[in-house]
This record gives sequence, C-alpha cells and structure tokens, in this order.
Amino acid sequence: MTDAADGLGEAFDSLRAGRLLTILTGAGISAESGLPTFRGEDGLWEGHHAEELATPEAFARDPVKVWRFYEWRRGLVLAATPNAGHRAVARLQHALPRVAVVTQNVDGLHQEAGSTDVVELHGSIRRVRCTREGTVRPALGAAFSELPPRCPGCGAVLRPDVVWFGEPLPEAAWRRAVEAARQSALLLVVGTSALVTPAAGLVVIAARAGAFVVEVNPDETEATPLAHRVLRAPAAKVLPRIADLAERAPG
Ligand code: APR
Repeated sequence: MTDAADGLGEAFDSLRAGRLLTILTGAGISAESGLPTFRGEDGLWEGHHAEELATPEAFARDPVKVWRFYEWRRGLVLAATPNAGHRAVARLQHALPRVAVVTQNVDGLHQEAGSTDVVELHGSIRRVRCTREGTVRPALGAAFSELPPRCPGCGAVLRPDVVWFGEPLPEAAWRRAVEAARQSALLLVVGTSALVTPAAGLVVIAARAGAFVVEVNPDETEATPLAHRVLRAPAAKVLPRIADLAERAPG
C-alpha cells in the first residue's frame, strides 16, 4: 500500500484553510471493534440477512423476532469499544476547522470516541421510539426483560430508533448530509459497501460538486469508480495516518 498520506498534502492545506472535510462511514469502521458488517461473512443472524429483518413489514409480522435480532446487535454494541479508526475520526474533527461526520452506523461508537455533531443517517440502536406516540428515549443499558418492550408512557410497543429498509431517512440528518456532501473539498468514504441508497448517493453528490473522493476499504465497492484515491486497508490502520497528516504543521 502506498502511504495513506501520499498526495493528500495539498488537499489538507485547503482543509486547514477552512474548506470542509466530510467523513462518511459504514459498518466497516466498526468491524475492528468486533461488530459484524451487514454484508460480510458474519453478517447473518440465525440464518437471516438484515434486509429480511430490518423492515416495517418484518416488524409488523413478528415484532419479537425483530427485537431479538436488535437485542443481539445491541448486546454486541454495548460490549464494544471504539477502535483506532473511530478515534482518528475524532482527532480529525479536533485538528481541522470544518469536519462533518456522517454515519450509516447505529452503534454510537463515533460519539464514544469523542466525535461531536455526528449525523446519524440511520438512527441509533441506543434509542427506542414509541410506535404510537413517536417519543424517543434512550434504550436501557441492559437487555429488556420482556420483548417487545412497551412504552412507559402509553403502553404501546416500542421499536428501535433506527431506519428500516423502505423507510425515509430522518429529514434533518439527510439535509445536513447533503449540504456537507455539496460543500466538501475532501470526502473520505470509509467502510461502506455503498450499496444502500440514499446514503450511497452522497458520494455521487460530493463527486459531482467537485470533492476529492478518497475511499478507505479493504475491498472494492460501488463507490470505487468515483474515488480519486483508494486506500485498500482496514480503517483502523489508515485513518490514524490521515489524522497524523492533519495534525502535522502545514508547510
Ligand atoms: N475497515 C474498512 N472497511 C471495512 C473493514 C475495515 N476493517 N472491514 C470491512 N470493511 C468494509 C467491507 O469491505 C464493506 O465494503 O465495510 C463494508 C461494509 O459494508 P456493509 O456490510 O454493506 O455495511 P454498510 O455499507 O454500512 O451498510 C449500509 O445497510 O443494512 C443496512 O442500514 C444498514 O447502515 C447499513 C446500510
């Protein structure tokens, strides 16, 4: 692999001068925290793909099964800690004047690593939402005693505060993400297969608006043809090198 920093120096000068860096992340950045990706080899739960369970239809049909799937994932998330990739994203946010962190992940590990203002495109597994009132609350720090859990306010069934296939993204988060993509001088696309829209469309928006696109992913993805630089390595290896570059004094 060429050095992560190669050829990025000029781009970083413009970032130091106040241009926007956007970091778009997916499940791959949390792989090294022990969380399975969706489309990787360990992405199945009891033989099911996420696409079969993460839908409003699946929840209407069998809320307990869908909740069991989310409680499994939430258990993994609660036991996980941020890795060097998440920490490097937080370092970049501190080192540069304008950085937008946009994630498809629902695990909250960017925030745990110290990132602020994270745009959560797909919600958070650490919150629950009442299916009747729409009220959002933090989920318990432990497993629910009964599934499906019930709203303490009205007794209706709670759901995870995440976006399921076929549902619209939270409007404010999507607006902020599109705005960031449009304004970016540099877009880092980290650990996403870029298969799921509309999130994957952010890469197209940024590239069309003139951003320099850098992909960080051990494998080829749908975003690869749009990337100006491709860093074929795990995020926890590459991102700390990029954060070093941002922290280095200019010149
Ligand atoms: N570092 C960087 N990338 C990695 C690593 C790593 N250590 N390990 C795996 N990857 C890459 C894989 O090569 C793959 O391209 O992470 C990507 C994970 O892809 P997906 O499993 O498809 O996850 P993601 O792109 O986040 O999925 C998008 O789909 O299921 C829905 O809502 C869910 O937010 C999710 C969305």
